[in-house]
Amino acid sequence: MHESSKMLVIDNQTVYFKSSEEMNEIQEGTIDVIITSPPYNRGKHYSSDSNVKYNDSLPEKEYFQMLKRVWRECLRISSYKAVFFLNIGDSATTQGLSEKVANSAEEVGWIRIQDIIWIKSIYGKGHYTPSGGNKRFNNVWEHIFLFIKDKSKYELNPKAIGIPYADKSNIGRYGKSDLRDPGNLLHICYEKTTGATIKKGHDAPFPIGLPYSCIKAVPNAKYVLDPFLGTGTTLAAAKSLGLHGYGYEMFPRENLIRETIINKSQYKLKTPILIPHYEKSIKTLLQLLENSKIEIWDLKTKKDRINMEILIDTFEKMNINSIIVEKIKKKLQRDNKNNSLLKFIKK
Ligand SMILES: C[S@@+](CC[C@H](N)C(=O)[O-])C[C@H]1O[C@@H](n2cnc3c(N)ncnc32)[C@H](O)[C@@H]1O
Repeated sequence: MHESSKMLVIDNQTVYFKSSEEMNEIQEGTIDVIITSPPYNRGKHYSSDSNVKYNDSLPEKEYFQMLKRVWRECLRISSYKAVFFLNIGDSATTQGLSEKVANSAEEVGWIRIQDIIWIKSIYGKGHYTPSGGNKRFNNVWEHIFLFIKDKSKYELNPKAIGIPYADKSNIGRYGKSDLRDPGNLLHICYEKTTGATIKKGHDAPFPIGLPYSCIKAVPNAKYVLDPFLGTGTTLAAAKSLGLHGYGYEMFPRENLIRETIINKSQYKLKTPILIPHYEKSIKTLLQLLENSKIEIWDLKTKKDRINMEILIDTFEKMNINSIIVEKIKKKLQRDNKNNSLLKFIKK
């Protein structure tokens, strides 16, 4: 038993409270981007408002039959330029499962083109759930398998979620602006730990930065789909990017989905830049400099100026405004005159 035939519409986001094994509500060839994280089949807890529970420990055969029905429907309602981001991770007890899930999508006709790694935490930057004691390392990453429907029709623009060059002398070498492809490791942190009260019956939400980044990297997209909507994160991302979104959830927490779509859609992409200890060190050094009344040295060479510009760029990303930062900025403006690299950095 589940709550079928019910739906929720918020702005351009539509949620169907039913199984995505049939998605007759959406016309064939509509969807441009799919981003989803399916049930992992490892005993996670998903339950509806009326406490109807999803069985996340299905016999393997049944699990893959269900997934394949969903992937086939996804293919049917996708446009030929569609791009499909499939997020799944392995736990210690389900090693290799994610590869089988990727295969199940390939078996129904999706074309696999890349494996992106979603990093939840690196050198302590980002939350993750501790697991494994001293028997193994903590899991701090998951797969995002990338699929397409048609090799000649799909489009992807990784620079839409690009990052600035560390070495600014590269600006102009591969393009005019200070922007490069982020690579296939995406470091996207949870904004806070997902405690039981936040999850309210849904064990495994992904951070909004994940669907947001994936959707943003697909140019000219209009319609987004998440066939396993969970708490509604994907539709919050679709809303914040001004796109139409569709979600299917068979065991819905209606208020939670509504709150997520409304409250999280103010999200804007932030590039994590440094590991926490470096950020602390930079702040401490700046305080020391300010108290010591030290004068900023002359920026004699082009390299001196570029290094200072990188430093200013970093301060701005850390939202640091201090007397020293202002002094360096003024010095740079004076020294750089008309041939400033700053104008590239700002683009
Ligand atoms: C891993 S969770 C998705 C979490 C989601 N990415 C988020 O950020 O909240 C998988 C979801 O799929 C739902 N589900 C399981 N089988 C389903 C089906 N056949 N159709 C629709 N939803 C289903 C579960 O109830 C669960 O909420």
